[in-house]
Amino acid sequence: MLEKMLELHFSISSFLLITFSLALICEAQTNGRLLPQEEKNALEEIADQVGKKDWDFDLNPCGGNTNWNTPSDNTSLYVNIVTCNCSTPDGFCHIQSILLKGQDLPGVLPPSLVKLPYLKKIDLSRNYLSGTIPPEWASTKLEYMSVMLNQLSGPIPKYLGNMTTLLYMSLENNLFNGTVPKELGNMVNLQNLFLGFNNLIGKLPVELNKLTNLIQLRLSDNNFAGKLPSFESLKKLQKLWIQASGFEGPVSPSSSVLTEMNELIISDLTGSSSEFPPLENMKGLTRLMLRNCNISGKIPSYIANMSQLKILPYTGELHSQRKREKKEHKKRNEDPEILFQKIYTSGELPAFGSL
Ligand SMILES: *[C@@H]1O[C@H](CO)[C@@H](O)[C@H](O)[C@H]1NC(C)=O
Ligand SMILES: *[C@@H]1O[C@H](CO)[C@@H](O)[C@H](O)[C@H]1NC(C)=O
Ligand SMILES: *[C@@H]1O[C@H](CO)[C@@H](O)[C@H](O)[C@H]1NC(C)=O
Ligand SMILES: *[C@@H]1O[C@H](CO)[C@@H](O)[C@H](O)[C@H]1NC(C)=O
Ligand SMILES: *[C@@H]1O[C@H](CO)[C@@H](O)[C@H](O)[C@H]1NC(C)=O
Ligand SMILES: *[C@@H]1O[C@H](CO)[C@@H](O)[C@H](O)[C@H]1NC(C)=O
Repeated sequence: MLEKMLELHFSISSFLLITFSLALICEAQTNGRLLPQEEKNALEEIADQVGKKDWDFDLNPCGGNTNWNTPSDNTSLYVNIVTCNCSTPDGFCHIQSILLKGQDLPGVLPPSLVKLPYLKKIDLSRNYLSGTIPPEWASTKLEYMSVMLNQLSGPIPKYLGNMTTLLYMSLENNLFNGTVPKELGNMVNLQNLFLGFNNLIGKLPVELNKLTNLIQLRLSDNNFAGKLPSFESLKKLQKLWIQASGFEGPVSPSSSVLTEMNELIISDLTGSSSEFPPLENMKGLTRLMLRNCNISGKIPSYIANMSQLKILPYTGELHSQRKREKKEHKKRNEDPEILFQKIYTSGELPAFGSL
């Protein structure tokens, strides 16, 4: 009997011991995944500034809870993700990216972002955020910033030129007005610059020629003036979208040096007529649109040799269709770009005469 009891006692204590050590291990792991208090405070300020009500601050933002990192499928435009980097030498986790898309957030762009020193990516697209980009953002080390489809207004701030770590910047589909500041030419690491669907005016500053790492540039739907720039120093450009931008033609002859180009989408240039631009060096072209650019004369025969080329359908409807979509995008909460892609890929090949 005594023997049995001893045995029982022994197994209970080893059970307790094991449980206790397991608890210790778990505790240690959770501790290792905590944010510094300053970053947690910064998140609370950010929630307040953008008007986000449903972050649960009783849960660890880096603890893998769905409140902070909501799984979403490919088709959903609602995105709710905070990611952390927990492999930093100081034993803490740090906020690395914040993606709050399609959440109807009513506030402003959060100045407190600057209090997250490890933040690399911010995506606040498809909300109702107003005001402008706070000066505090100028001293972040962001690599990716999208504020597209909001209600941001006023001039594009000059201090964006200080954000030299940025590789991706989308200001599309807002109410930015005035001219493009020459300081943007300092963002020499930029690979993607999207300024379309705003109320920008004037000439593009020549300083943009310094953005020699640009791969994608979109300027559509603005009220720019002057001749369409040649972009000849942007030798890595692969995708150039300039629809209804306000520029005057022609499509510059130096377009022939842009050998990496695979999507050239240009429409509605004003000005006198010109010949078909020299595109023979754009060997990788897969999409070409030169609609309503007052181009006359013959289509060069090398075009027929570009086997991978899909010429986008001519449709007089397209522009008004895009305007309509711009107006309705909020209501339907659909990305206009996705819609354009649908239009582009579903049309018939045009008669060459309509180019
Ligand atoms: C999401 O889309 C990509 C391509 O657009 C596809 O490769 C992937 O399988 C999709 N994932 C899911 C979960 O549907
Ligand atoms: C996490 O931070 C460390 C230290 O700053 C860095 O070396 C590492 O690349 C980061 N991890 C990721 C996935 O970015
Ligand atoms: C941008 O950088 C310049 C030069 O370093 C500095 O004088 C200016 O204060 C910075 N602007 C902001 C908003 O940080
Ligand atoms: C830009 O828009 C604001 C209103 O948001 C207006 O007060 C200002 O005059 C506009 N500036 C230009 C250059 O059009
Ligand atoms: C096209 O060019 C011709 C000849 O230069 C000019 O007369 C005409 O006004 C231009 N058309 C448009 C729509 O700009
Ligand atoms: C088109 O390709 C054919 C066959 O490779 C070649 O003979 C012809 O010269 C090419 N035409 C042009 C305009 O490049």
